[in-house]
Amino acid sequence: MEPYRIKVVEPIPVLTRAERTEAMRAAGYNPFNLNADQITIDLLSDSGTGALSAAQQSAAALGDETYAGARSYYRFRDAVTVLTGFDHVLPVHQGRAAERILFGALLQPGALSVSNTHFDTTRANVHLSCGTAVDLPCAEAKDLDSDDPFKGNIDLDALEGMLSGPDYVGVVIMTITNNGGGGQPVSMANLRAASELCRAHGVPFILDAARFAENAWLVVQREPGWSDKTPAEVARAAFDLADGAVASLKKDAIVHMGGFLALRDKDLAARCEAVLIATEGFRTYGGLAGRDLEMIAVGLREVVEPSYLRARAAQTEYLAELIEKAGVSIVRPPGIHALYLNAGRLLRHLTPADYPGHALACELYVAGGIRCAELGSLYLGVEDESGVLVKPAPYELVRLAIPRRVYTQSHLEYVAEVVGEIAKDPESVPGQRIVSAPDLLRHFHCRTEPV
Ligand code: F0G
Repeated sequence: MEPYRIKVVEPIPVLTRAERTEAMRAAGYNPFNLNADQITIDLLSDSGTGALSAAQQSAAALGDETYAGARSYYRFRDAVTVLTGFDHVLPVHQGRAAERILFGALLQPGALSVSNTHFDTTRANVHLSCGTAVDLPCAEAKDLDSDDPFKGNIDLDALEGMLSGPDYVGVVIMTITNNGGGGQPVSMANLRAASELCRAHGVPFILDAARFAENAWLVVQREPGWSDKTPAEVARAAFDLADGAVASLKKDAIVHMGGFLALRDKDLAARCEAVLIATEGFRTYGGLAGRDLEMIAVGLREVVEPSYLRARAAQTEYLAELIEKAGVSIVRPPGIHALYLNAGRLLRHLTPADYPGHALACELYVAGGIRCAELGSLYLGVEDESGVLVKPAPYELVRLAIPRRVYTQSHLEYVAEVVGEIAKDPESVPGQRIVSAPDLLRHFHCRTEPV
């Protein structure tokens, strides 16, 4: 049961199937081109889409908009310090700003950034800093159906090989939970071992802590030796293993905008601060308003409440159960922030060149007004000059991301019903063909059509 009740509501649009069919056509079959007014249930992202609490809204009223040294900054900084223990805390407007500033200060040209899995913007910021991003997910992650509890882990042998090899590793960054890897958690044992390897080789060990509380909850539930700890204690133990962290606070601070870059090293923090001031804003606001800083401080305390995390995890598990009952496979075991549907398995009549993940995402909209994102060959595949898919993605997935405190159980039952209807006649779902696509970040801009 959710440990809160609803105080403010927002109507959601319900269109007819004919209207949705036309909207999808006009959007060039790209869910990113749809407008909010056309969407019934929006599962595109859990980022910045959460519902504020009354306590956050009342804290916003205390927002101090003083240019330098605002009271709100100190409340924000204290909340981050209590949570993480890092001495140097820089506010940024969102997670990717922290990534850009950190990699710019840390990576020499040609350096490697090694991760369990880099999130897209993290990878892009490594490349913009003239580094190379290397993902080393653990072997268990390859089996989408196994119930291994920590499929978000890094492959420790591969990491050791990389750190002892000839290439220069500038940073190791662990994404908790592993968003690019099916939303799977990372165990404390894996974090500790990776941290020790980094220490032995003198390489900075950084957390991408966007979903630090959800990772902590799954550690409490799944990892021997941690069940009697609070999520806040587990999160702190994870931060204690690291030299610093970047965080998008649009996830586990339950706010619409914000992030932080937190570090132990004074000199590195000073270099980052100079870039922060030049590009984000003064060190006591970093691209955020005082009201944002206040809401973050409250959100960081609310998100580690066991009753909140228990209800959120139960919501995702419930949706997973309904979807699996309807005969649709997901990446197992269910994580917390999202479910990843195995579109390749559901739409067996399609080949990767028909972009089954994208086809399913389009169908979920047309059938039920549900918006979500493909994570398959449209996103990761490679075509030759004539547009023929020559390197498909390893899996054809669709991510259903679940905003925090937003949708009720009946909304999720509706989502499962729509998925179930599609699963009754999967062969009626047409494949998709790319009509136009830019080279960079094409999934945001491309247009496709049914085949
Ligand atoms: N790291 C992770 C693990 C993320 O999931 C995201 C964003 C970022 C960094 C970047 O943070 O958006 O605040 O700049 N993920 C969103 C998503 C966009 O939908 O998964 P940001």
